Amino acid sequence: MQAIIQTHNLRKVYGMGDIQVNALDGVDISISEGEFVAIMGPSGSGKSTLMNILGCLDRPTDGQYLLAGEDVSGLDKVHLAAIRNRRLGFVFQSFNLLPRTSALRNVMLPLVYKRSEKFTTREREEKALAALEAVGLAERAEHEPNELSGGQRQRVAIARALVNDPVLIMADEPTGNLDSKTGDEIMALLHELHGRGRTIVMVTHEQYIADQTERTITLVDGRVAQDDKNGGH
Ligand SMILES: Nc1ncnc2c1ncn2[C@@H]1O[C@H](COP(=O)(O)OP(=O)(O)OP(=O)(O)O)[C@@H](O)[C@H]1O
Ligand SMILES: [Mg+2]
Repeated sequence: MQAIIQTHNLRKVYGMGDIQVNALDGVDISISEGEFVAIMGPSGSGKSTLMNILGCLDRPTDGQYLLAGEDVSGLDKVHLAAIRNRRLGFVFQSFNLLPRTSALRNVMLPLVYKRSEKFTTREREEKALAALEAVGLAERAEHEPNELSGGQRQRVAIARALVNDPVLIMADEPTGNLDSKTGDEIMALLHELHGRGRTIVMVTHEQYIADQTERTITLVDGRVAQDDKNGGH
């Protein structure tokens, strides 16, 4: 299967002055299309740093990152933003929805930023509604975030991540702010998306959440300490 993510000796050094932090210290990973992968590791081990680079939000100091075969390690901010828009969907621990803005408008946002394809407002609304339907929230399209439960907010965020039809969904602790029952509902939704062929990379601190994915990559001190297939898969 084609590798959607391939890194070679990925390094990230913060603080180029007196004190240097090797946040990523030579990371080699390969993730195939359609995989559901959990990233674990202690606080400060480099998980968010890795997610930021894999999600084209930041660049490595050194090493190579191929996204769907394309070398994106040296791209500038403008080009990285274009790649993000075209290929990636993001889900964050804190949902990151716009307040006082309907679920539908929130889900439409990535399409508004997408300059390469010109959609009419009508087309954007239809796509956003289809994404809300996919997460079971079509009837809440006109609700604002403060009129929704935590789990519903995260489902809106997932709909927003899906609306671009991304090749890769990046989720940084998507269940971190949810009670366990609501977290289970979000996991069920991610499983469903995975079942429909999406590639998902998810950071979690919870072993029982990681156990539900196909593979767990554990970082320690900016290096891959473990990379295991999970039981049941
Ligand atoms: N902008 C920055 N400037 C300097 N150092 C940074 C910066 N961001 C992160 N670091 C350092 O890089 C290392 C990795 O940080 P990172 O945020 O990737 O860890 P993490 O695994 O996501 O931790 P957590 O589980 O606490 O979220 C840490 O030592 C951190 O202090
Ligand atoms: Mg982090």
